[in-house]
Amino acid sequence: MPGLPQGATVLITAGPTYEPIDSVRFIGNRSSGRLGVELARAAHAMGHNVILALGPNTVPAPNFADRLRVERFRSCTDLESLLARLWPEQADVLIMAAAVADYRPKHAEASGKLRRQAEGLTIELEATPDLVAGCVQRRRPGQRIIGFALEPAAQLMASAASKIKRKGLDAIVANSLETMDSDEIHGTLVQADGSSESPGPLSKSMFAAWLVDRVMRV
Ligand code: CTP
Repeated sequence: MPGLPQGATVLITAGPTYEPIDSVRFIGNRSSGRLGVELARAAHAMGHNVILALGPNTVPAPNFADRLRVERFRSCTDLESLLARLWPEQADVLIMAAAVADYRPKHAEASGKLRRQAEGLTIELEATPDLVAGCVQRRRPGQRIIGFALEPAAQLMASAASKIKRKGLDAIVANSLETMDSDEIHGTLVQADGSSESPGPLSKSMFAAWLVDRVMRV
């Protein structure tokens, strides 16, 4: 696949989703969005146009005067709508770093608050749609889609390989669960043809620069 020209547009999703239980409570996860924000900075520094879709309670988005647009989402449903608007029309590459919830409450109390009850509470969860797989289905020739996989070290490479196939991705960034909350990341970029490479442990900003270079070039 030829490299993308400088000035290509990269859509980066980052951060957690918050799935509403009622109007004040949610089910979320610990993603900070830090790596996604570093990816946006790196892509911008390399001369690309960047759309950063950022979830709730993340590190602040960068604020560049040009070539950066920031969109916000909270829930998987919000991100689904955002992607429906942006992909495949507005970007050449999608880097799906968002930690999208796999389940959400089936019956959220949209405009009220659940009351305490002595007998406890059972919340029924339903599976969320696989957003990145949906983006793969509607992509155009030449567009690239890179996913992320946070997995226990022992299953890392096997899980990454099966996720590439199951979702139809061009590549996936495999990252061990044990590095969560760390300032460093020891990620491996696995391609659809099974080849893989890793730059070793790096700060998130250095890893982001390495990854954007690989993704836009390969
Ligand atoms: N992802 C997505 N939509 C979801 C869940 C995940 O688009 N509903 C994307 C993530 O953004 C990431 C990739 O899929 O790029 C892998 O996410 P992960 O949670 O590791 O995979 P799952 O599909 O949830 O598979 P598993 O439960 O087996 O880990």
